[in-house]
Amino acid sequence: MERRPRRNRMSPTVRNLIRETRLTPDQLILPLFIVDGTNIKNEIASMPGNFRMSLDHLLKEIEEAISLGINSIILFPGVDESLKDKTATYSYAENNFYLNATTKIKQTFPGLHLISDIAMDPYSSDGHDGLVENGKILNDKTLPILGKMAIAQAQAGFDWVGPSDMMDGRIGYIRETLDAAGHTETGILAYTAKYASAYYGPFRDALDSAPKAGDKKTYQMDPANRNEALIEGELDELEGADVLMVKPALHYLDIISDLKSSSNLPIAAYHVSGECAMLIAACQKGWLEFDKAMPEALLSIHRAGADMILTYFAKDFAKLYKAGKI
Ligand code: PBG
Repeated sequence: MERRPRRNRMSPTVRNLIRETRLTPDQLILPLFIVDGTNIKNEIASMPGNFRMSLDHLLKEIEEAISLGINSIILFPGVDESLKDKTATYSYAENNFYLNATTKIKQTFPGLHLISDIAMDPYSSDGHDGLVENGKILNDKTLPILGKMAIAQAQAGFDWVGPSDMMDGRIGYIRETLDAAGHTETGILAYTAKYASAYYGPFRDALDSAPKAGDKKTYQMDPANRNEALIEGELDELEGADVLMVKPALHYLDIISDLKSSSNLPIAAYHVSGECAMLIAACQKGWLEFDKAMPEALLSIHRAGADMILTYFAKDFAKLYKAGKI
């Protein structure tokens, strides 16, 4: 035998020397859920270890994340039903708690990289990402609402805005709107290939944001499609995206890999709520070992081509990393 690949696996030292992929906490983005009020910290049943938090608790959570080396947060609002309407007016309202909290968070932690979500669903009485008329989700008529949301979020202090509705022309419209308002430094994390996935369930529980009727298949992508992700990537890049994202992550590693090799933009992957729930459930049953299965999942996403990963396990990963266990 002339070739013996096992020689390169013989000791921890040689394995470290030849290791092709390394994942560090500074490549992770932690998603957090904020609600209005004070002293609120409710665990999300389908996402153990994740909470809906009021700002006071959220600030402590962020402080802990930063101390572990996690400096990027994506923030989602849980909005009271009474504030939802058909046109999502609360999403850019003056007294919006999500926007006010953002300003406070940036004042408290100026070095924190803060990412928003631009979509109507948390604020919509229909629970859809766009305007609904006669059961149809409107593409172009939703744009001005998203533009208002983008400006309000940039003003509040978000570093990146994250248009997540998977409809057409979002990136170009939001880029133009932000630039016209002088927000040339606000970046756009494009939800480029977001699939109509069954794995968003726990997130929708967290925000009570499930569609009241129908599903999201006329705007989110068909899980069967691969080439279509490249079309979406091409458009988002042309329209001015700063980062392209694939979502979910683990069942879509081919898409991450395709986008990585077809674009020079950085690639993000969203390891979504259902992926997190699935792993936690198996670990709670004792069927998988969390400290090993979780880093393997995240490393696979990175190996496939994701430069950064949005994951509810960011803190868990950083703790293991700090302890020298990965
Ligand atoms: C809403 C949005 C969703 C997620 C992020 N932004 C849900 C959806 O599209 O229904 C899902 C994230 C997760 O499941 O962790 N536009």
